[in-house]
Amino acid sequence: MRFDKKNHWEGVYTKKIPAEVSWYQLEPAISLKLITSAGISLAAKIIDVGGGASVLVDKLTGQGFQDLTVLDVSPKALEYAKERLGSRAGAVKWIEADVTEFESPEKYDLWHDRAVFHFLTKAEDRQKYVRFLHRALKKNGHVIIATFDLDGGSLRCSGLDIMRHNAETLQTELGEGFQLVESVKEVHHTPFQTEQKFIYCHFQRV
Ligand SMILES: C[S@@+](CC[C@H](N)C(=O)[O-])C[C@H]1O[C@@H](n2cnc3c(N)ncnc32)[C@H](O)[C@@H]1O
Repeated sequence: MRFDKKNHWEGVYTKKIPAEVSWYQLEPAISLKLITSAGISLAAKIIDVGGGASVLVDKLTGQGFQDLTVLDVSPKALEYAKERLGSRAGAVKWIEADVTEFESPEKYDLWHDRAVFHFLTKAEDRQKYVRFLHRALKKNGHVIIATFDLDGGSLRCSGLDIMRHNAETLQTELGEGFQLVESVKEVHHTPFQTEQKFIYCHFQRV
């Protein structure tokens, strides 16, 4: 039977509130640091794919970024984020979509993905993701992808198998035309006091 992503993730966000999920972060510090170091303007177009209920959009809005898009396969996750943002939610574009089927309506300066790419365990899905990323990213655009680290990261999340990565495997997945700018490791502390090893890789399209 075909795995129904939307159904799975809607179930996750129905059973747990955002602060109870393993990937919850009060402060997305490394994402913010890498986005700042990309040196883009406040008018730059930023998309957070699989952004879910993450507070990254709140922080970026707070820093003055004016053109933000959050994409997620789960409408419930997006509702959490919209409710939290209140009147500021109107300034953000919200897209309910599967990133592996995403025909982007515009081109972005920065593509951010924390903990989505690693769920793509089939080569075919990773190729589709990369194809849409290529189409959606401007020349010289930035890509920040955070996954479980090949060096000791978890093998499952949210009841699903995942595929761990490092800078080399992500570089191979993205293909030619992307240059690694920086990679940063993180030990993420889950709300239930366990640790997860992540790696964040920042690439630029050249
Ligand atoms: C582990 S959570 C990470 C959420 C957020 N990026 C963060 O760091 O808090 C994965 C998110 O990706 C979404 N997701 C999973 N597969 C997806 C897909 N194929 N397309 C779009 N969103 C997806 C889920 O609904 C969920 O919100």
